[in-house]
Amino acid sequence: MSGKERRPQRPSVAPPRGWYGPGGGQVGHLDPPTMWRATTVQACGLWPFAAGSGAPMTGVPLGQHLHTGATVCGDPISWFTRARYISNPSLFMLGMPGLGKSTLVNRILIGLAATGVTPLVLGDLKPDYADTVRALGGQVISIGRGVGGINVLDPGAMGQAAAKIGGEAGKVLAAEAHGRVLNMVAALITIVRGRPMDDHEQSVLSACLHYLAERARPGRAPLLPDLLRVLDEGPDRVRAVTLDRGNVTRYQEAVDPLHRSLLGVLDGPLGDTFASETSTRIDPASPAVCVDISRIGEADTQLTAAAMLAAWSDGLGTVAAAHALADAGLAPQRWFFTVLDELWRPLRAASGIVERIDALTRLNRSLGLGDAKITHTLKDAEALGSEADRAKARGFVERAGMVVCAGLPRTEMRELGEIVGMSEREIELVSSWSSPPGWASTGGHEEPPGRGRFLIKVGGRPGIPIKVSITDTERNLHNTNTRWTGNGLNLSKRTEASR
Ligand SMILES: Nc1ncnc2c1ncn2[C@@H]1O[C@H](COP(=O)(O)OP(=O)(O)OP(=O)(O)O)[C@@H](O)[C@H]1O
Ligand SMILES: [Mg+2]
Repeated sequence: MSGKERRPQRPSVAPPRGWYGPGGGQVGHLDPPTMWRATTVQACGLWPFAAGSGAPMTGVPLGQHLHTGATVCGDPISWFTRARYISNPSLFMLGMPGLGKSTLVNRILIGLAATGVTPLVLGDLKPDYADTVRALGGQVISIGRGVGGINVLDPGAMGQAAAKIGGEAGKVLAAEAHGRVLNMVAALITIVRGRPMDDHEQSVLSACLHYLAERARPGRAPLLPDLLRVLDEGPDRVRAVTLDRGNVTRYQEAVDPLHRSLLGVLDGPLGDTFASETSTRIDPASPAVCVDISRIGEADTQLTAAAMLAAWSDGLGTVAAAHALADAGLAPQRWFFTVLDELWRPLRAASGIVERIDALTRLNRSLGLGDAKITHTLKDAEALGSEADRAKARGFVERAGMVVCAGLPRTEMRELGEIVGMSEREIELVSSWSSPPGWASTGGHEEPPGRGRFLIKVGGRPGIPIKVSITDTERNLHNTNTRWTGNGLNLSKRTEASR
């Protein structure tokens, strides 16, 4: 202290009468100016008070930016085609249960349908989307024991389109339809056996299907029992691929395991659903399609897996047919959007499924198909049986153009951060949404703090935090708490009152 006057230390918080010093003192409270949102046509007259928002404005209106209040728009198809923010039209959504993931994807579905994209929900497990698809004037097909079935030998929309197109292009499509049917029967056998089919069995199966297709009456697709009959009869075309050399015993030895597995499909838990005519075919002209498999019990994993695969096979066949018709100039070009909610259930249902989903995500750009996959946690991938399956499932997040996070625990966010790149602030924000609601002492219903809050991540860019407010129509279309209503306990009404 060399004689200098000691200055008061600057406090870390502003004192009640303002900072000390020249120009300091008491400050009056200044209300933040009111903000309005408008289009550039309306707002240009307000120069210089207009400010552009940093939030993306291309695509389905999703909600408001959590910090600026600006409208945030986006969906995988518009961000891929028009805005070119992402290189793959796919969305991966993660978050704890009940935070509004399916509700947000329902909104994307409605918005995309309005732009002419056809939503396809090929295996609705809860159902989360059936009411929305119905409200959009689309088709809801129920699959399950005693509810409805799919004839896996029916080439469906692809067969019809091949006949309509004719010529070389028609033949190519018919060959693709044959491959799709073959894959589907092979998938059913894989599910029943619990391991993949041998390659020579695939050749036998393929020969049987060709034989059946050549003899099929127009308008009537063969059924699984017809396939068994062909194996029994053993026509020359089928015998040729078994290398029986005219010996009946050799032929029977070659086809018996396949015969047994097909009997297993027909007489086992899958028989009811896959052995007869398709109850309702997918209408290729429908504005939206939902294959509702919610009547299948959660414990019935074989049937769930089979129904889901059959629905995909049929649905993606419809997409391929629509593209072939457009290429031939017989129909307008269309885009599609598939939704795969509750991804953890099909992943665990059968080992072949991860591979199917993997193939789907790799192909979706060439198929003119956007997709959304929804699951609870990254750990769903860890629960899979083989390392190859786990790697493939992790690849879904790595390859997704858009990753959307609802509330997730901190540990989970760190893991996710390694894949999509998250800042500490982002990890902090999303994990705060996973905290439980307070104990409402009045008996009023409190919303979980993270409900309707999402962070959208694209590549290495900073995330966009949004807040989704749903309309009454959306709440009525998708209220997963309906089972808890009645008896004077109406969670959705209380939610409304508490807002
Ligand atoms: N933004 C929101 N504001 C208010 N309520 C909402 C909002 N989003 C969803 N809800 C309500 O919360 C409930 C759960 O929503 P939803 O089924 O979409 O959650 P989820 O994340 O898909 O759950 P799960 O993981 O179990 O499938 C529904 O009843 C829905 O109506
Ligand atoms: Mg859901």
